[in-house]
Amino acid sequence: MINFKEKIAKAIAKVTNLDEKELATYIEIPPNSDLGDYAFPCFKLAKALRKAPPVIATEIKNNIEVDEKIVEKIEIVGGYLNIYINKETLAQNVLNEIAEKKEKYGSSNIGQGKNVVIDYSAPNIAKPFHIGHLRSTVIGGALYKIYNFLGYNSVGINYLGDWGLQFGKVMAGYDMWKDEYDFSKSEIQAILKIYVRFCQEEKEKPELTEKAREYFKRLEDGAEKEVETWKWIRKISLENYQKTYNLLNSKFDSYNGESYYNDKMEPVVEELRNKGLLKESEGAQVVDLSEYDMPPCIIITSAGTTIYATRDLASLKDRINKYNFDKAIYVVGNEQRLHFKQVFKVLELMGYPEYAARCEHVPFGLVVDKTGEKIGSRKGNSVFLEDILKEAIQKVEKIIDEKNPKLENKEEVARKVGVGAIIFNDLSNSRIKDEIFDWDMLLNFQGETGPYIQYIYVRTRSLLEKAGYVPNLENINCGKLQEKEAIETLKLLYNFNETVQVAAEKNEPSIIARYLINVAQSFSTFYNEHKIITEDKAIQDARLALTYAVGTVLEIGVKLLGMEMPEKM
Ligand code: ARG
Repeated sequence: MINFKEKIAKAIAKVTNLDEKELATYIEIPPNSDLGDYAFPCFKLAKALRKAPPVIATEIKNNIEVDEKIVEKIEIVGGYLNIYINKETLAQNVLNEIAEKKEKYGSSNIGQGKNVVIDYSAPNIAKPFHIGHLRSTVIGGALYKIYNFLGYNSVGINYLGDWGLQFGKVMAGYDMWKDEYDFSKSEIQAILKIYVRFCQEEKEKPELTEKAREYFKRLEDGAEKEVETWKWIRKISLENYQKTYNLLNSKFDSYNGESYYNDKMEPVVEELRNKGLLKESEGAQVVDLSEYDMPPCIIITSAGTTIYATRDLASLKDRINKYNFDKAIYVVGNEQRLHFKQVFKVLELMGYPEYAARCEHVPFGLVVDKTGEKIGSRKGNSVFLEDILKEAIQKVEKIIDEKNPKLENKEEVARKVGVGAIIFNDLSNSRIKDEIFDWDMLLNFQGETGPYIQYIYVRTRSLLEKAGYVPNLENINCGKLQEKEAIETLKLLYNFNETVQVAAEKNEPSIIARYLINVAQSFSTFYNEHKIITEDKAIQDARLALTYAVGTVLEIGVKLLGMEMPEKM
């Protein structure tokens, strides 16, 4: 596709004798298109050219040589050159490229040959899959797809919390109370009930905690019965998570979690010791990080056991060996910020600074209700992700029954819209902000929501269906797309690839979510102002081509976020 910025920079470079690449970085997109499609701030060149910005602006304007098929006109406002690109060329380029590349439009191969390891979801087995894990699953899942789309090789790792005292608790509770629970309906629910009860009762009876420790010790020592039970709990938990993952389209290439590293920590501890990094502190073995304004990173506790950070170091070394990653991303809540800072610092001190620099913690905020209260915290019980997804689907089914009872494949549409609404709500604001979870808001078909984008997409499909054809681009007069709203939409479509790249650079899927809202709103304004199916065949063809292009980009974008697109709704 034509690169307008590059062409403009080249032309300015010719007049000014300055570096074309640098000039390109100065080019801005004005806040509103009355000020041009691009703007060039001439004051940035004042120093290098030893001239006043207005003089530079006039010189460039008078001497620039640029094809009128690229730039239509240039105006000087203040120290700026406001540059208006040729709209017909824009339309031709965008529409052709989309028709040609279809679902690959906006993709690239900038990541070719590079592995991006994405650590996400990572629920703690035997503990409830909490709504907090929804965010990691959804954000990580989107990043997985975004990186692949840019040519990287995404490696999704579900670093399961499948080791720890919680297993001791469940096993002790199971042996005491198993007859009181109904395992025939849902084994996992029964296990969770036992866990929750155990946590309640141990508050009053500390001897229970002791008991849990004994069970866990036996598990660590490899006692047959405990190992069998552990395997069983892990298996039924994973089966249960899988249902949620299927609904969310989450994909993992590895489920190596904490238990996997349990017997792989020795070498790491040895390496730390050999490199002189371990220090004794109050009976524990730690890496002193005071020089970096951080508390010490505990490697071996005073009880002689390894700990979360030790396992993360072991897994990092494993990921270096296995994937030689270009980036390692950890999609984990903001409350673990310090943990990751410490772990990455220790990796650096161990002698792997280049890998430490490639590691990034991608934090996110809490999930709260309308009043700002953390969801699930009030009654101390957890909200299950699977239940939330099912509820979303049911709510959409109800809406369909009211508004469009004859719709075909009702169930499938309800699934795509319901789950999509949850995913989109999670991704629609910058991730570090708390996510507001409110049913009315996230299912509002007129709001800035997943259902709204799906609705606009369905409109594009029905317009094409009504017309009965997708126009052949060769016969289209792109000059017919001159309306302000059409141009706005085309410009957005033109920026799709860049948008995806920025989303990846910042590990911020919300950039794509906001973009899709803009595309949908812009197109919606267009078809509210201008009839698409009209008498004039040439106009209709051009508008239908735009309609098709918008639908295509909405569909690609939505899939990058992990949602699915309904054809009707
Ligand atoms: N299971 C952990 C939790 O729920 C998250 C694990 C994140 N990944 C990691 N490599 N530490 O808090």
